Formats: sequence, C-alpha cells, structure tokens
Amino acid sequence: MRIAHVRILLVLMAVTCGALIWTNTRGEADSGKGEISKGKILYVKNCAGCHGTEGKGDGYRLLGPEPANLASPSTKKKSDSALLKTIHEGKPNMPSWKVRLSEQDSRDVLAYIRTLAK
Ligand code: HEC
Repeated sequence: MRIAHVRILLVLMAVTCGALIWTNTRGEADSGKGEISKGKILYVKNCAGCHGTEGKGDGYRLLGPEPANLASPSTKKKSDSALLKTIHEGKPNMPSWKVRLSEQDSRDVLAYIRTLAK
C-alpha cells in the first residue's frame, strides 16, 4: 500500500511540474519578447555574413544597397514592427526570412539586434 501511495504522489508531482513548465514556456511565447541568447545564435548563422558580427554592415557586400548598419541610430529609432517587417519580407539585397525564421525566431533575432546599438 505504502509503495502505491508513493507512486501516485510521484505521478502527481511529475504532472504538476510538466504543467508548470508548459505554462511557463507558453507565457514566454505569448509575451512578444525575444530571447537574446537564441537570437544571437540565429544572427551569427544567418545575418552576420552581411551585417557583420557587430551589426555594423561590414560583412559581405553585393552591388547595390549595402547591408544596413544595425548598430546605427537610424535602425535604433525604427519600431520593432518595422524591423520585423524588413526581416520577414527582405529588401533589395536582403533575402526574405519569412520561410526560414518563425515569428519567435524573428523576435529573438530582433532582441539580439537591439543589443548591438550602443
Ligand atoms: C545577403 C545579405 C544580407 C543578409 C544575409 C541579411 N541582410 Fe539584413 N540587410 C541587407 C541589406 C543590403 C540591407 C539594406 C537594404 C536597404 O537599405 O535597402 C539590410 C537591412 C536590414 C534591416 C533594416 C535595417 C533598417 O534600419 O531599416 C534589418 C532589420 C536587417 N537587415 C536584419 C537582418 C537579419 C535579422 C538578418 C538575418 C536573419 C539579415 N538582415 C540578413 C543584407 C542582408
């Protein structure tokens, strides 16, 4: 009997923990805020090639518009939604990331970009 009780208790604890973790991660996804650490990984992989590791736009250049300096005041002034739109839809010389980055990925990258502006 005792052992059965302990087992039930363990199952209950596991279920509560699972539910807590689930609501926590859900809350994060809904809050609209990006995670800087995840954004950094995505940025280095996808964006640094053109925008440079520090976002100064000193990466790979093509003919035409140069990669934006993401650390500049002009980018800093722009709203989250304007920058998310650029990331989603692309620009001349900048690919569209809509299919490759999820909504959450884009917000994570943006959160990282916001740390580049000093
Ligand atoms: C192939 C090169 C290239 C890659 C890769 C690239 N970009 Fe860009 N990006 C550009 C260029 C070029 C511009 C400027 C376009 C213009 O001004 O017309 C730009 C502009 C931007 C802007 C607008 C800045 C502003 O002030 O309006 C944002 C934000 C941005 N890029 C974010 C990203 C992110 C995030 C990634 C990675 C997911 C990325 N870019 C990958 C070339 C690139």
